Amino acid sequence: MITTPYTFFATAECVSRLGAKPVFVDINPITLTIDPEKLEQAITSRTKAVIPVHIFGRAADMSAIMHIASSHYLFVVEDACQSIGGEIQGKKLGTFGNAGAFSFFPTKNLGAYGDGGLVVTDDDKLAERVRMLRAHGSKVKYHNELIGYNSRLDEMQAAVLRVKLGHLNEWNNRRREIALEYNKLLKDLPLQLPDPGDKGEHVFHLYTILTEDREELRAYLKSRGVETGVYYPMPLHLQPAYADLGYCRGDLSVSESACERNLSLPMYPELTNEQIHYVAQAVRGFFEERGA
Ligand SMILES: Cc1ncc(COP(=O)(O)O)c(C=O)c1O
Repeated sequence: MITTPYTFFATAECVSRLGAKPVFVDINPITLTIDPEKLEQAITSRTKAVIPVHIFGRAADMSAIMHIASSHYLFVVEDACQSIGGEIQGKKLGTFGNAGAFSFFPTKNLGAYGDGGLVVTDDDKLAERVRMLRAHGSKVKYHNELIGYNSRLDEMQAAVLRVKLGHLNEWNNRRREIALEYNKLLKDLPLQLPDPGDKGEHVFHLYTILTEDREELRAYLKSRGVETGVYYPMPLHLQPAYADLGYCRGDLSVSESACERNLSLPMYPELTNEQIHYVAQAVRGFFEERGA
């Protein structure tokens, strides 16, 4: 199964859990999502599926990916864990492939108060199988047809999510507004700013810039009370758990470089305009002090 190495470990972990082998394909340097051209080159007769990841909320190039997947008869599972509510030309992310996976981890755009998740599909047979898998492989109590999991969404989480879901669009719109404001305020600095795509193509789970001076900028912002995050410090093909796959540093250089340069600035719908300006001014101050 082919996926991107610039993602959270779970994307590939579930491939390994199935007994399949994750094959990593490098990313587009602008969108940071899987590069369709490289994806096509990596397909072999053993390839079964593709897992594009809408990383940080930015839509992968689904029209190119679906075109390649259908011409090679590949199954597509979208990892939409960071992109709930996002869309491409009015069609929701997670609904392009055979199935879409979403996470309700508390920090997500739609977060529960604990763990939870969702699978979407328009394939009735697959939907039934997923429903069975979440409850120990059973449709009828104490009649287990499959080896499944204990993976039901508990009532507490469902109650929280049901209320928060009503605010999702409004919160995603506010995230986008904040991101566009950051992009405007930071535009002439020596940074790579996130590509917002068309309306709806980015729901800014994270606002992630790329900079050659990550550690220095991070420390500078911290000293001014601005917390930042690094997503992710190491690409999956270089993770110790995947040492046996035999990848080396340099194999997927765009992802490796993104891992060395990424820095996420504060991003949540409740940020005030004053806070956005404070953060942007602090980033600007760092470069001004260096004479950039
Ligand atoms: C891109 C991505 N894939 C998969 C996951 C796994 O989701 P969960 O932690 O809900 O299992 C996450 C988040 O945790 C994620 O960000």
